Amino acid sequence: MGKIAVVPGSFDPITNGHLDIIKRGASIFGEVYVVVLNNSSKNPLFSVEERIKLIEEATSHLPNVKVQTFSGLLIDYAESVNASAIIRGLRAVSDFEYEMQITSMNRVLNDKIETFFIMTKNQYSFLSSSIVKEVARYGGKIEELVPAHVELALNEKYNKN
Ligand code: PNS
Repeated sequence: MGKIAVVPGSFDPITNGHLDIIKRGASIFGEVYVVVLNNSSKNPLFSVEERIKLIEEATSHLPNVKVQTFSGLLIDYAESVNASAIIRGLRAVSDFEYEMQITSMNRVLNDKIETFFIMTKNQYSFLSSSIVKEVARYGGKIEELVPAHVELALNEKYNKN
């Protein structure tokens, strides 16, 4: 069956950059749980249910990927699904400080669960859900940045259809 890894995030919405990390994680780990953390400090565009649906559609061709949600600490979720690893994508040096902080905190909470970083592909190194939303809001082209169904969902949110 192989080891279980968790890919956590806000995924508001999932981008091609996230998808690349999920695919590469799923090629190494036996099972990958993509978990939408219900982070109350952010004001999301998509509801948790909408985000889950968008991720499920984007990953439906990956048989060892499951999508779930969790409210609380990531490490508690990882323990509850018997994960041995957390996977995060790294884009640029600017990600490093934040990632180091959450990785160190998670290690204090449970040092048995390792965090692995996957460097994003060059073409996604600038990509974030926030930047995609900003471009979509003003009618810019996002077809190379998100799956087609996510583009549609963004256009619906911003009444571009
Ligand atoms: O996609 P994001 O917003 O960069 O993901 C950040 C996320 C959801 C992974 C992070 O905010 C998180 O782990 N939240 C859960 C709360 C938690 O466990 N905090 C303690 C570690 S700092």
